[in-house]
Amino acid sequence: MKIGVVGTGYVGLVSGTCFAEFGIDVICVDKDAGKIERLKNGIIPIYEPGLEDLVAKQVKAGRLHFTTNLAEAMEGADAVFIAVGTPPSVIDGQADLTYVFEAAKEIAQNIKGYTVIVNKSTVPVGTARRVTDVIRAANPNADFDVVSNPEFLREGAAIDDFMRPDRVVVGTTSERARAVMRELYRPLYINETPMVMTTPESSEIIKYASNAFLAVKITFINEIANLCEAVDGNVQDVAKGMGLDGRIGSKFLHAGPGYGGSCFPKDTLALVQIGEQHKAPQTIVQTVVDVNNARQKSMADRVIAACGGSVKDKKIAVLGIAFKPNTDDIREAPSLVIIPELQSAGAKIAATDPVAMDNAKKVLNNVEWCEDAYATIKDADAVVIVTEWNEFRGLNMDKVADLVKTKCIIDLRNIYKLPEMEERGFHYVSIGRPALIDGKAASKIRAA
Ligand code: UDX
Repeated sequence: MKIGVVGTGYVGLVSGTCFAEFGIDVICVDKDAGKIERLKNGIIPIYEPGLEDLVAKQVKAGRLHFTTNLAEAMEGADAVFIAVGTPPSVIDGQADLTYVFEAAKEIAQNIKGYTVIVNKSTVPVGTARRVTDVIRAANPNADFDVVSNPEFLREGAAIDDFMRPDRVVVGTTSERARAVMRELYRPLYINETPMVMTTPESSEIIKYASNAFLAVKITFINEIANLCEAVDGNVQDVAKGMGLDGRIGSKFLHAGPGYGGSCFPKDTLALVQIGEQHKAPQTIVQTVVDVNNARQKSMADRVIAACGGSVKDKKIAVLGIAFKPNTDDIREAPSLVIIPELQSAGAKIAATDPVAMDNAKKVLNNVEWCEDAYATIKDADAVVIVTEWNEFRGLNMDKVADLVKTKCIIDLRNIYKLPEMEERGFHYVSIGRPALIDGKAASKIRAA
């Protein structure tokens, strides 16, 4: 089989490469000639573990090609995937479909035989129909079907998510298109990966509802963490106790500084907009959006409180800028809210991140960028762990104690154990676990 993939961003590049790994001939197309040239030379524009090697392998095998020419990508293709960006509109937060419709128009001009047009981009309900209308208007004689096939790829684990998905969702009413999609995903089908065959509308909702539900789950446990702090509960125990209930599940119950990234913030906002538009208000999701925004901001207050009420002229060492580990993506990262808040409270910021610093330098000012964690924490009045990179999980605490000015750690990802930090004499503040007061857990002080 042969497919074209329009858009070599995160989703397009990962999907195209993985389809090539499935044995399909793939041509990825992008308007950005520089990007295509770099891809041809094996330079991958994003940081995603394993992707560079897989691209090289598939290019070498002759199954993966890059071009700026859509007609070439569509020559003899059974399907064309639309994987262009749908950024939130600056006006109202709705997904901006300009690039999707542009791609659809161009695709229309190049349809020769029966072609399945697959929407991989995250798009509002009704987009499959609108794409159908755009193509029909541009090329009334075209023989095609439009399918919604949302992606559920996590950054940092995208290849594994593509190769071993929990499910594949295919939204179309055309049996002919379904057959093509089944064939494309055949390696997964053989592995008994569940295939959800549904209408385009349900498929489009599944994508938003899944991401929004996960955002709700995270926000829920974050608020439970606040309660744990107030009453000396331990949110990790609570999450474990809840998660063992098979109906709840243990995943996405890690309390932290609030979710970020390229999907949850964008998709929750878009779902709220879609709900409003169709007079089906998504009040839970709206609340989650508000609570999460407030939470990211409140993390700075937590740091200030841990520093005794003021960070003025204090050196705060920030470990981690990316919105999560194993990515250089800093979109909607909590660090981008926390750092400016601390700076406006008078703090001097030193920071590091294993791969996201180049991106961070473009948007954060007056930060002392350091090559690793130890260089960052030197003479710090407080250390804030914002992203749970492996590099930060196993810090040598004797060395940390020697380097810092004040033994104060604010661990927004709960990667260290409270009693150990207590024994080492750190003022250690984490999320949803009993706070330390003068080196002792609050509960111990009350018990004494
Ligand atoms: C997400 C979805 O998981 C994926 O299916 C979808 O297609 C794209 O959006 P991604 O944004 O890459 O993937 O990251 P994810 O691992 O889901 O984390 C999102 C955010 O939630 C991060 O900021 C992360 O730190 C936070 N998070 C996640 C928590 O705070 N607690 C958790 O338990 C899980």
